[in-house]
Amino acid sequence: MSVTQEQILNALRQVKDPDLNRDIVSLGFIKGLEIEGNRVSFAIELTTPACPVRDQLKEQARSAVSCLPGVFQVDITLTSQVRSSIVRPSVAGTGSISLIPTIKNVIPVASGKGGVGKSTVSVNLALALAKRGARVGLMDADVYGPTIPTLLGITEAPTVDEHNRIGPVTREGLQIVSMGFFMKPDEAVIWRGPMLHKTVQQFLGGVLWGELDYLVVDLPPGTGDVQLSLCQLIPITGAVIVSTPQDVALNVAQKAIAMFKKLNAPILGVIENMSAYVCPHCGKRDDIFGTGGARKAAERLGIPFLGEIPLATPIRVASDEGSPIILSQPQSPSAKAFFSAAEQLAAQVSIRAMQGELQPQVKVTF
Ligand SMILES: Nc1ncnc2c1ncn2[C@@H]1O[C@H](COP(=O)(O)OP(=O)(O)OP(=O)(O)O)[C@@H](O)[C@H]1O
Ligand SMILES: [Mg+2]
Repeated sequence: MSVTQEQILNALRQVKDPDLNRDIVSLGFIKGLEIEGNRVSFAIELTTPACPVRDQLKEQARSAVSCLPGVFQVDITLTSQVRSSIVRPSVAGTGSISLIPTIKNVIPVASGKGGVGKSTVSVNLALALAKRGARVGLMDADVYGPTIPTLLGITEAPTVDEHNRIGPVTREGLQIVSMGFFMKPDEAVIWRGPMLHKTVQQFLGGVLWGELDYLVVDLPPGTGDVQLSLCQLIPITGAVIVSTPQDVALNVAQKAIAMFKKLNAPILGVIENMSAYVCPHCGKRDDIFGTGGARKAAERLGIPFLGEIPLATPIRVASDEGSPIILSQPQSPSAKAFFSAAEQLAAQVSIRAMQGELQPQVKVTF
């Protein structure tokens, strides 16, 4: 006797998404279930192509269904449909979604103090998400010191159409907009709040972004006008806070966290950058700035910890050459650390986006 749909779904109910803390059947992940004799096929539709547990879920689903009597072959396809965290006004922020109707999630990358690696982290996270198959935009909101064009070796200017809308520059699957595209080299921006506000507005609503799963926003350091404008203009999914491991950096990072909380914008997680230094010659580990401080701080504050990025010369060299480590050395330990942090970030976005559907099973408290 042939296996039934009911039996297969019952078996698949044993498979739980560990991030969403629910089984993949009740989450609605199983699509196109077909039974042909002793062959079963279906798709698992994940909430992000960068799901950190995609292979694990596929294997668990395969073994759950393979055990059923009368099943000899199980064909599973992994697909994804990124959910938007900003369609529901209750989720975050005070701004209007009408400015960015085609963008599902906005993720600013922030820090309390300068030079901790926000731009490096932003560009590598955005690339990692794009490499996993997501549609990703990268907005360089550091209008004073835009570095994204240099990090990606971009020299061409974006297009501007007859309605003054900017066509982003495309690189490695990313849609990119930066103030650097509109400045002459060595030109300094000296703007007051209202002008900055207008630029942020223009970079959101005046850009032909197209359909995006994630818009990563590289912020200037600190807690100033750009951060304020962003959170006022649109509902953001949640910020990523970058910190080095030193106590002093962590103390300032807490200020950035406090600012987002004040603006009613969630925090998706903390990334520790310039974590332990591993000597490329002898492999010896040296905790120049200490290590694990950001993880402990995140735990203390009840904020997810997304990962540690080592202090590694190849990261700096790759950035200087306009080909970030994710592109130039995707198999290196540093690139793997970025991929892992990007996956953890994508998982946190999914949790946020599904919060309404998941309650009371998953409670996210920040
Ligand atoms: N993990 C790392 N290992 C080695 N070098 C790094 C690492 N992260 C960043 N850097 C280097 O540190 C410098 C500062 O990084 P970056 O420009 O990304 O910081 P930032 O926080 O964006 O700075 P700002 O506050 O000025 O915008 C750059 O030269 C960059 O290449
Ligand atoms: Mg920067």
